[in-house]
Amino acid sequence: MRVQVVIIGAGPAGLLLGQCLLREGIDAVVLESRTREHVLGRIRAGVLESGTVALLERVGVAERLHAEGLVHEGFDIAFAGGRTRIDLAGLTGKTVTVYGQTEITRDLMDARAAAGAKTLYEAQVLPEGFEGSKPTVRFVKDGKNHSIECDFIAGCDGFHGISRASVPAGALRTCERVYPFGWMGVLADTPPVSEELIYVSHERGFALCSQRSRTRSRYYVQCPLSEQVDEWPDERFWAELRRRLPEDAAAGLATGASIEKSIAPLRSFVAEPLSFGRLFLAGDAGHIVPPTGAKGLNLAASDVHYLAEGLISFYKEKSSSELECYSQKALARVWKAERFSWWMTKLLHRFPEEGDFGRRMQLAELEYISGSRAAQTALAENYVGLPY
Ligand code: FAD
Ligand code: DHB
Repeated sequence: MRVQVVIIGAGPAGLLLGQCLLREGIDAVVLESRTREHVLGRIRAGVLESGTVALLERVGVAERLHAEGLVHEGFDIAFAGGRTRIDLAGLTGKTVTVYGQTEITRDLMDARAAAGAKTLYEAQVLPEGFEGSKPTVRFVKDGKNHSIECDFIAGCDGFHGISRASVPAGALRTCERVYPFGWMGVLADTPPVSEELIYVSHERGFALCSQRSRTRSRYYVQCPLSEQVDEWPDERFWAELRRRLPEDAAAGLATGASIEKSIAPLRSFVAEPLSFGRLFLAGDAGHIVPPTGAKGLNLAASDVHYLAEGLISFYKEKSSSELECYSQKALARVWKAERFSWWMTKLLHRFPEEGDFGRRMQLAELEYISGSRAAQTALAENYVGLPY
């Protein structure tokens, strides 16, 4: 079998790239190691930049997003018993849209199925030959060996995938910071505590009130990395969240049985460059941000935008110059989002090893942001997403 592009990974990066190529008549197959149900069951990001929404519109998968997504014009930062609203629309003229990663994934899967495009699940994949001009992807499915020849391989298989790991040692530089805590997340069919998101900096640790719809809430609390999900029965989670919220929000918090619960570690990571021969890395396969700035999924989308441009230009204009610039263009945006995500994480979480001085610096910065339109504008323009 031969195709133009093999995409490894059916997460948002892989499926979105598949959709971009499908619209241009470029022949691509998606290979995924897990089942479709497993991919759809992973509860992750929820906030889309307007650039991500625009890209989904351009490739024809934004109908349900516009019908069901919630447009947010601002969010609150709560600290020291008070709250400051960041007026995204007023400060930047832009908004964000709350629409779950699982819903985007479902829309993209449906679009592929409707077009008859091929996604193979439960495939154990090995990319080969991408240093030269004849890449091949071997895979095992249902106990049988297969191989696909292609022009290019797109490694969209997340942080633990095979693509980055297949690049010869020493060819990529990596930069990493692991944070000494995680996020305990709960999804519940309860009305969100507030119309807009609330990011909370509290002595007991960070908390975030997010949502998926008017009847489904997503909440997070900072927790030690040593803790396991089964140490967090629902009652403990709700009690801890309530203690960290501002009084009025705590009083209005509706609790209920959790429908999903997970702990995510926090990490900053970048691999450079994002390409090696005919293999290109996109999304979490090439970089990770801590979730505080809601940037992970949005960076996957901007990578895909640049990579799709490069591949389309290769096939339509017979030019490889856009593809050659892929890593440089994508990384310029990645590093700015890395900085913002690191800064939001440092600002809002409890770092016990930083002591009282560290906490006072956080509070002074939060006070400064509360009183400065310039500081709020800088925050807002990063949060809504820097231009592509
Ligand atoms: P993924 O979504 O990881 O998709 C990669 C796909 O590749 C997966 O389907 C995987 O099964 C598949 N794969 C892996 N290995 C192989 C292989 N060897 N062969 C074939 N397929 C393979 N971002 C936010 O903005 N907000 C959040 O709240 C948030 N929470 C998160 C919580 C967790 C636990 C994690 C891990 C991430 C979270 N993120 C969040 C980040 C965001 O979800 C990611 O940035 C986004 O999923 C990136 O999409 P991706 O397609 O690059 O990678
Ligand atoms: C969500 C996750 C985030 O990391 C964030 O900053 C905002 C919202 C969410 O899952 O809804």
